[in-house]
Amino acid sequence: MSNIQSKRIGILTSGGDAPGMNAAIRAVVLAAHHYHIDVMGFYYGYNGLICAESINQAKLIELSDVNSIIHRGGTFLKSARCHKMLTEDGLQQAAKTLKKENIDALIVIGGDGSFNGLLALKDHWQGQLIGIPGTIDNDLDGTDFTIGFATAVNTAIEAIDKIRDTADAFERIFLVEVMGRHSGHITFNVGIACGAEQVLSFENFSVAEQQSKLEILAAEIKYAQQNRHSSYIIVIAENLWSGGAIELAKKLKKSAGIECTACVLGHIQRGGSPVPKDRLLATKMGVAAVQAIMAGENHIMIAEQHSATCYIALEQAVKHRKVVSQQLIDAQTNILALTAQNQY
Ligand code: F6P
Repeated sequence: MSNIQSKRIGILTSGGDAPGMNAAIRAVVLAAHHYHIDVMGFYYGYNGLICAESINQAKLIELSDVNSIIHRGGTFLKSARCHKMLTEDGLQQAAKTLKKENIDALIVIGGDGSFNGLLALKDHWQGQLIGIPGTIDNDLDGTDFTIGFATAVNTAIEAIDKIRDTADAFERIFLVEVMGRHSGHITFNVGIACGAEQVLSFENFSVAEQQSKLEILAAEIKYAQQNRHSSYIIVIAENLWSGGAIELAKKLKKSAGIECTACVLGHIQRGGSPVPKDRLLATKMGVAAVQAIMAGENHIMIAEQHSATCYIALEQAVKHRKVVSQQLIDAQTNILALTAQNQY
């Protein structure tokens, strides 16, 4: 291990921001300070490495910079999706900046796209590469939770609980679209916690069976309307149905005469103050990242499994998308069966 006094950490946030990213940056800066290590922040995701010379996109982070940010959503380092990071030119420029700034270890807080950038950098720069999982999608393999997921779920639940009140008053049917890109972690957790009558996600709804699934859905909604006299909420994953909840609502109207109100929660799920669970996870992971650097670890993602912090090879974290727990999917299927039989 090199002399700790000479180590210098670079840090950036990349991809979709997630509540708790600020808390993770704070933890890295405080832990690094403990070891007398400087932390240089690169702004606007990987653009901060690639365009570091053009605008002021890199700066040493002072302790005062991380004062009072643990409770703030977003990321004060800003974020971006940077496709140039997967080009030869972009990688060379990033490596050049890291060398010029005497960085020994780079910490990237982000999701799978961001970690692919980290892995690509491996062949161009010899320093330590550490990922901290920060994405509301919770889809990184090897960690039970990613920073931001708990807050996003909470935000969506609060919104749908409100929708339920007005839906009940009118005995209306709502189609509520939640984020998650191509994973149903948010959809299932939110749907079940809201007592949604239906949860439609990649894990239980395939495009190939679309027609038959739609007929079953329409029949179940009609049965519930005739027998339960209450609201009916369908939580649907974004990117599942072409055109999203709005188009599915139109389709249900056209094919089955069912009136649905579509509501796309969208980016509201990415914002807001992180819930305690995300603040704690971010703080543990930020400290663990600095400890991993001190221990000479490389090409790893900081993870948490069964409440214990551990390291996962970056390759593994991005190789497969983490699947939604079968227990959750089964729970929803069982609850749905009761609803359909009008047993509660
Ligand atoms: O990855 C986080 C996420 O919020 C996904 O859930 C969503 O599909 C995507 O980012 C949206 O990205 P953008 O804000 O760039 O449209």
